[in-house]
Amino acid sequence: MGKLNAVITGVGGYVPDYILTNEELSRMVDTSDEWIMARVGIKERRILKEDGLGTSYMARKAAKQLLEKTGVDPNSIDALIVSTTTPDYKFPSTASIVLGKLGLKNAFAFDFSAACCGFLYSLDVAASMIQSGRYKKIIVIGADKMSSMVDYTDRQTCVLFGDGAGAVLLESTEEEGVGVQDAFFRTDGKGLPFLHMKAGGSVCPPSRFTVDHRLHYIYQEGRTVFRYAVTSMGDDVKKIMEDNHLTADDVNWVVPHEANLRIIEAVTKRVEIPMEKVMVNIERYGNTSAATIPLALWDLEEQLKKGDNVIMTAFGAGFVHGASYYKWAYDGHK
Ligand code: ACO
Repeated sequence: MGKLNAVITGVGGYVPDYILTNEELSRMVDTSDEWIMARVGIKERRILKEDGLGTSYMARKAAKQLLEKTGVDPNSIDALIVSTTTPDYKFPSTASIVLGKLGLKNAFAFDFSAACCGFLYSLDVAASMIQSGRYKKIIVIGADKMSSMVDYTDRQTCVLFGDGAGAVLLESTEEEGVGVQDAFFRTDGKGLPFLHMKAGGSVCPPSRFTVDHRLHYIYQEGRTVFRYAVTSMGDDVKKIMEDNHLTADDVNWVVPHEANLRIIEAVTKRVEIPMEKVMVNIERYGNTSAATIPLALWDLEEQLKKGDNVIMTAFGAGFVHGASYYKWAYDGHK
């Protein structure tokens, strides 16, 4: 048997219907469409409004579409991974709920936590599982209901985030030169003070005090996060290009985590790749955390061609960061 490669054979996605525009946000906090577009590049974001629906709902919708699109037999799926910072419950895992709703009979499922890098990290874990020869088909989902931890009275954060889910099917192949080629990941462990949720975990469990003091929302020191994000993603993309002898001309697509259009522009300037080669849809969806990269692949799938050199890069709370080099394996279609 030849070397096993892990290839994406399909992409699914889901965004909720409700559109939260900059105009609506301007009525909620002291902000404006001009400020948000100039500083962040987001026009609107989707919000899962319906009571009783969480991240698993969006993850399930994305995975269901993926199963339908690829026509794969659900009973042939070996594993399902949901990368999320906003699980439905502390336990059981969101992945177990998604698996149950999809009715997968021969799979196991687990959640993966790496904030905005979750999809990229879990894609690499799934690729290693496939390359080991023990698993053949794995669904990897990035999904987040960021609205569940956004303080809509805080103008510094509420303009940034949205809800959504993206899913890919990763399969085993002996075809050479396609699929996951390389990855470079790091976690620096210094990010906690700058980006976290203060309460709700085991350090500070929920209480009347934590609710009264509004400690269940995203806390972020935006400027510090911005600086780290640009440097880390820029350096990681450079490293992955150097390690794989890729010039800017060789790269067909950069798919970055989408937190702020200015971050994306600064990263691509650092690595001297033109914006025409960068997949961006932040204007319509905002920062959906673990979902930004698979949502971009889903949204812009038609533009991907077999053999394209794709570099994905992300940065998030922790701080976590990295870049991976992927060789696209089919001509994109909707
Ligand atoms: N509308 C109007 N004014 C605003 C708004 C707003 N929505 N937000 C902040 N301002 C004001 C500030 O109060 C400040 O006013 P001041 O000068 O009177 O004090 C001014 O704008 C400038 O504020 P900065 O914080 O310097 O603005 P900046 O240009 O840095 O943009 C932002 C802020 C958008 C948060 C930016 O720093 C950023 O994108 N940071 C990184 C975010 C990120 O990547 N997060 C990842 C999280 S993902 C995860 O893991 C969950």
